[in-house]
Amino acid sequence: MGNDGYVPLFETKKAKGIALYRLFAASVFVGICFIWAYRVSHIPRNGEDGRWVWIGLFAAEVWFGFYWLLTQALRWNPIYRHTFKDRLSRRYENKLPGVDIFVCTADPLIEPPMMVINTVLSVMAYDYPKEKLSVYLSDDAGSYLTFYALLEASEFAKHWIPFCKKFNVEPRSPAAYFKSISDSHDSNEPKELATVKKLYKDMENRIGAAAKPGCLSEEIRPKHKGFSQWDSYVSQRDHDTMLQILIDGKDPIATDVEGCRLPTVVYLAREKRPQHFHNFKAGAMNALIRISSKISNGQIILNVDCDMYSNNSHSVRDALCFFMDEKKGPEIAYVQFPQNFDNITKNEVYSNSMRVINEVEFHGLDGYGGPLYIGTGCFHRRDTLCGRKFSQGSKNEFKIEKNAEREETIHELEENSKDLANCTYEENTDWGKEMGLKYGCPVEDVITGLSIQSRGWKSVYYNPARKAFLGVATTTLGQTLVQHKRWSEGDFQILLSKYSPAWYAKGKISLGLQLGYCCYCFWASNSLPVLYYSIVPSLSLLRGISLFPQLSTPWFIPFAYVIFSTYTYSLAEFLWSGGTVLGWWNDQRIWLYKRTSSYLFAFTDTIANSLGFSADSGFVITAKVSEHDVHNRYLKEILEFGASSPMFTMLATSGLVNLLCLAGLLKKVFIAEYQMMVLQILLCSLLVLINWPLYQGLFLRKDNGKMPSSSAIKSIVFALLVPALCSCINFVLYFFSDFVLLCNLIP
Ligand SMILES: *[C@@H]1O[C@H](CO)[C@@H](O)[C@H](O)[C@H]1NC(C)=O
Ligand SMILES: *[C@@H]1O[C@H](CO)[C@@H](O)[C@H](O)[C@H]1NC(C)=O
Repeated sequence: MGNDGYVPLFETKKAKGIALYRLFAASVFVGICFIWAYRVSHIPRNGEDGRWVWIGLFAAEVWFGFYWLLTQALRWNPIYRHTFKDRLSRRYENKLPGVDIFVCTADPLIEPPMMVINTVLSVMAYDYPKEKLSVYLSDDAGSYLTFYALLEASEFAKHWIPFCKKFNVEPRSPAAYFKSISDSHDSNEPKELATVKKLYKDMENRIGAAAKPGCLSEEIRPKHKGFSQWDSYVSQRDHDTMLQILIDGKDPIATDVEGCRLPTVVYLAREKRPQHFHNFKAGAMNALIRISSKISNGQIILNVDCDMYSNNSHSVRDALCFFMDEKKGPEIAYVQFPQNFDNITKNEVYSNSMRVINEVEFHGLDGYGGPLYIGTGCFHRRDTLCGRKFSQGSKNEFKIEKNAEREETIHELEENSKDLANCTYEENTDWGKEMGLKYGCPVEDVITGLSIQSRGWKSVYYNPARKAFLGVATTTLGQTLVQHKRWSEGDFQILLSKYSPAWYAKGKISLGLQLGYCCYCFWASNSLPVLYYSIVPSLSLLRGISLFPQLSTPWFIPFAYVIFSTYTYSLAEFLWSGGTVLGWWNDQRIWLYKRTSSYLFAFTDTIANSLGFSADSGFVITAKVSEHDVHNRYLKEILEFGASSPMFTMLATSGLVNLLCLAGLLKKVFIAEYQMMVLQILLCSLLVLINWPLYQGLFLRKDNGKMPSSSAIKSIVFALLVPALCSCINFVLYFFSDFVLLCNLIP
């Protein structure tokens, strides 16, 4: 306690063993310098075999060294947060601010309405004064089915919320809760549980039935006047603004079955017209910010993706501990929770839990001023999201909304607010630029977070042991690679844009944070060095070109040390973050695959676009539902290839090249000179080993998830062509260097 009687609402702890880590990192860096020195001092002379290969390898190693330095920013200064919710309640229980929760959905087929309303119900049931809570569902598909599901959910909530309160239910997503108790067979279920379960089943059946005919049926239309809005509906991309307040929290007669207040629930489908670009999720969020300012105007905004249900009913209070802290609160703009997942198998064959990012890297960013805004599971102050600058010495101003009677009727309010979600509303305004989420980038959230931090604000990363939000992880290789293509492409575009963390943020955020942002923004550019490293040394092996120092020379030591220590560290970090050894091995495979496919395509697309060619190798929303046998393979942790994709062709080609090289080598391995090339042989063998599931998918499996034959045939042809192509390139390069030599000789 300070001498002014200040008791903080949260505390911040530094990680233990930082000094030890820094010492270790320094030793690795020395090793890297020795590797560079070796490369420079041993360049084959002009005209010698492998000169260009060598220079390429050196370039790749310079890049790896540089990137490794960047990643140190994420590990140099990690911190951990802890909140005191009891103090918050004691001090502020009657002065808690209004909280508006935005749930965004975009497609009722990929994101089924049942999943969406489970998320909605889980946030409606937060342990928070209900009259201060408002939930907004933005439906970018404008689907009457989603509207109908939300209507049903707002009825079901009248039973669900009191049930949660009475039995202190956790988690408060009905589906997740029923699933968690079905695992523990408790014979003396309370009567209420059976009732609420039945209500849920009935609701599920009604929503399932409404989905069947494919159009608005006469059966459900009379259930709510709101359905009349679909009369003018043309298509997903052509309709009026549809806005419906399903529960008005300000209305004292809106109560649950026990007579307690309910949170406000609003359905919004902003206007869509084919001639107006809709700016994806950022556009939806900005419409929500405006609409909600009319209806509830909560000072705190939480946004979650529609598949991310709340797993902890106290998370709002956790977030408020940061915002309402008297000393440090006023400088905090947003509180980011990690993105965790429900559908993670033990050894994560797609490495989709993002374990190390969540448990290590974001804590590192937090130490330098705060994490990225990742677009879901994040609490914002409304005014900073709308562009307010940070000013030193400003106080927390959480006004308590007086429960003033509204002048308008609810219908008038709806009609008067609709304009705010029209296509033309943002024309000639700062929305999408200085206000709200920024437009023009596939990862609008990251760039928005960066601009908030550049205006002087801090952010906070809060990662409690019991996870606050659980989403649905990708369950096939294709989805995983597409998702990473989108992320890496967006981040790379930020790097090249005027909002680049490299220059725009210079001097506005700390250097450590700048480097941290760069780590993600440079994801895509990792592709070329990794591709080079995973193919060229193996091909050189086949041609007998040695690229690494021999076992007997001292130069071998730095290579051995850097390889051994960084991989041991990476394994330790993965285990420490809660993973398994096999999970780490899988993670290494996905590491390689992302770099040689997702990042590669992201890189080439971005470069092509910035040169004025229009390139887009595909953008698909990652599906949140999976077919039955696909799902079974996921649970068995078998790689799912399925649909053909250029990414798979790329992976299979590079995998096959390594297999061919290793096979070619086996014929010659007893020749003495090959025994010198230990590191090269090791690299090639490891690549073959890690690609084992890929070879299975190519040659051995018979199920539907195997490598599609078109990708397989293409990759086999390419793999056979690659060595031939190399010979050609080699020939050209020889010719070129001879030519240079010749030119030098001519006086
Ligand atoms: C998530 O996993 C659980 C079991 O692990 C399964 O029952 C559920 O259907 C999965 N959901 C999706 C969308 O794959
Ligand atoms: C989700 O919450 C439950 C308690 O409701 C907890 O047992 C579980 O560990 C949480 N899940 C995660 C991943 O933290």
